[in-house]
Amino acid sequence: METNAAVKTIRVAVCGAKGKMGQEVVRTVLNDPQLALAGAVDLHGLNETINDFYGVTDAPGMRFDRSLKDLLARETLDVCVDFTNPDVVFENALAIIEAGSRPVIGTTGLSAEELARLDDALKSHGLGGMVVPNFAIGAVLMMKFAQEAAKYFDHAEIIELHHNKKADAPSGTALKTAELMRQSQAKFGPTNAPEKEVIAGARGATDEANIHIHSVRLPGFIAHQEVILGSPGQILTIRHDSMDRACFMPGVALAAKKVMELKGLVYGLEHIL
Ligand SMILES: NC(=O)c1ccc[n+]([C@@H]2O[C@H](COP(=O)([O-])OP(=O)(O)OC[C@H]3O[C@@H](n4cnc5c(N)ncnc54)[C@H](O)[C@@H]3O)[C@@H](O)[C@H]2O)c1
Repeated sequence: METNAAVKTIRVAVCGAKGKMGQEVVRTVLNDPQLALAGAVDLHGLNETINDFYGVTDAPGMRFDRSLKDLLARETLDVCVDFTNPDVVFENALAIIEAGSRPVIGTTGLSAEELARLDDALKSHGLGGMVVPNFAIGAVLMMKFAQEAAKYFDHAEIIELHHNKKADAPSGTALKTAELMRQSQAKFGPTNAPEKEVIAGARGATDEANIHIHSVRLPGFIAHQEVILGSPGQILTIRHDSMDRACFMPGVALAAKKVMELKGLVYGLEHIL
């Protein structure tokens, strides 16, 4: 690929670069004229070069780092994109901020308290950061439509379906969807009969507004979600399917650019569209 150094202004590193999402992100950065790959980290990063692993010629001499901290100590980064694991993402995001870089976090599983702490850390460093539960535009629209529909339906449940290697449940998208729906309706399922679960968990998890969330994990799925809203005599189903991880990449590239203008934490792609 031909590169134009003059317009490659935003130096982006990718943490989790050998994962399913991370590999797509590295290729996206390499192919975007406004972004320059400044590093690639993965626990499984052997001493191989980026060019060899991805079969490209754009990153001469660059090798994987096994530790984000090593990369942050060596390189000045504008942005660090994280697609790793719910167990390490908070620590990674804090390390990115403390090194003076901007986190763009796709990894799900951050708690509300951790999001608040990241916001504080970003503000005290005068930096912007993004946490995006779903980078696919169709999924963002699904959430928006569910929020709108929840104004008119006070009975709703969410079914999210993912591949069986996903570590956290429910998905970040389901949590974000429920949060948006709560802004439209304080309590769901008011006319449901009193329930007794014969097998614990049969009715899924419930959020504070009594939205039931059901998580399906099966090989074959990528990332899918249905929001089902009911009222007497009618059912409205809003469904989104990610058929290929390519659907997340325009959102990741946009976030890597827009985060340069932000201060504090922005949660959700809808705020920068
Ligand atoms: N926001 C979105 O739109 C979106 C879309 C898909 C997946 N996700 C989330 O992204 C995350 C990653 O998903 P995936 O399918 O790519 O997973 P994956 O298991 O394929 O990849 C994760 C990679 O991170 C690496 N890793 C783990 N801990 C690390 C650490 N401490 N330092 C460096 N590398 C580390 C692993 O070695 C692995 O290669 C999950 O939380 C998933 O739910 C988000």
